[in-house]
Amino acid sequence: MIKPDGVQRGLVGEVIRRIEKVGFKIIAMKLHKVTMEQAEKHYAIHKGKPFYEGLLEYITSGPVVSMIVEGKEAVKITRKIVGATNPVDAEPGSIRGDYSLEIGRNIIHAADSPENAIIEYKIYFAEEEFEVYQKSDEVWIYE
Ligand code: RTP
Ligand code: MG
Repeated sequence: MIKPDGVQRGLVGEVIRRIEKVGFKIIAMKLHKVTMEQAEKHYAIHKGKPFYEGLLEYITSGPVVSMIVEGKEAVKITRKIVGATNPVDAEPGSIRGDYSLEIGRNIIHAADSPENAIIEYKIYFAEEEFEVYQKSDEVWIYE
């Protein structure tokens, strides 16, 4: 999910470019606003932490772009492309390392496990929004 700061700062194309060029297949994507109810579900694990209220305010503050991405080790590799949670620790070359400075404005969200990816996409997408298709370059990406 490209968070509201990523959308406002014109980084949608840049993020999608990085996800696409590594070889992943986007199977669903949309621009939308996160409702408070969705935000509470999404970040339930952080409830009670000092940054929780600010996090809900941030994620609901403007439109986001959400994507479901498919491919080999998609969670692990996407987290690498995204970079460490705190931009101070995010490597140059990662999205957060290249485009952000503060943990509370870190551009992008990515699921941290395949199980959580499923829980999260169900918050934002209905099955009808998935597109099942074959990507013609797969033969060159997978051996
Ligand atoms: P995300 O869920 O957004 O992909 O980020 P993450 O897995 O790398 O980090 P997580 O621990 O799940 O934290 C979720 C988001 O909460 C904000 N945060 N602020 N001020 C703080 O100490 C703090 N800690 C976390 C960040 O926006 C983080 O991405
Ligand atoms: Mg997280």
